[in-house]
Amino acid sequence: MKIKAVHEYLSEEKVTKRVAEMAAQISEVYGDEPVCLICILKGSVFFTVELAKRITAPVELEFMCVSSYGSDTKSSGVVKITKDLDVSIEGKNVLVIEDIIDSGRTLSYLLENLKTRNPKSLRLCTLLDKPDRRVVKVDVDYVGFEIPDEFVVGFGLDCNQQYRNLPYIGYVEIEE
Ligand code: IMP
Ligand code: MG
Repeated sequence: MKIKAVHEYLSEEKVTKRVAEMAAQISEVYGDEPVCLICILKGSVFFTVELAKRITAPVELEFMCVSSYGSDTKSSGVVKITKDLDVSIEGKNVLVIEDIIDSGRTLSYLLENLKTRNPKSLRLCTLLDKPDRRVVKVDVDYVGFEIPDEFVVGFGLDCNQQYRNLPYIGYVEIEE
């Protein structure tokens, strides 16, 4: 797949404003209780950083890498943990931070896996949600933006590992 152009869809300002709103909402839920943020690599890095900076509860930052995608824009349906947590989450408040939920396969697999590790609470936060593409049901606690079925890049999201560093979210126009 060759990309012809990337068109701005959600400006940096709009994304940042929404992330701040989500952080305020999340801060209110946890209060003074510590929360372990699980950033799902690599796409959620930018979102996690911006969100974490604005959460007022005591935060622990952990990383996991789960992949359900090949190198193209369609889900393979195969989910695997390529990097697991370094710590136990038993008895902890856990907030999983994802960049985008598409078919729901990655998150449904991941949440089931994390549940077996006995966290005190387990919630899910995603910057983007494509509800029209859902194949597997996932309970999402916090959603930044619901978007249509378009392939998007930027603010951490990639297309073949490119465009993650765009400060805004754009949709891609593919070379015919
Ligand atoms: P799911 O398992 O189908 O929900 O896939 C979720 C993963 O697919 C996300 O974490 C992304 O890595 C990737 N993904 C889905 N849609 C897009 C998109 O529009 N742009 C970039 N990556 C995407
Ligand atoms: Mg991802």
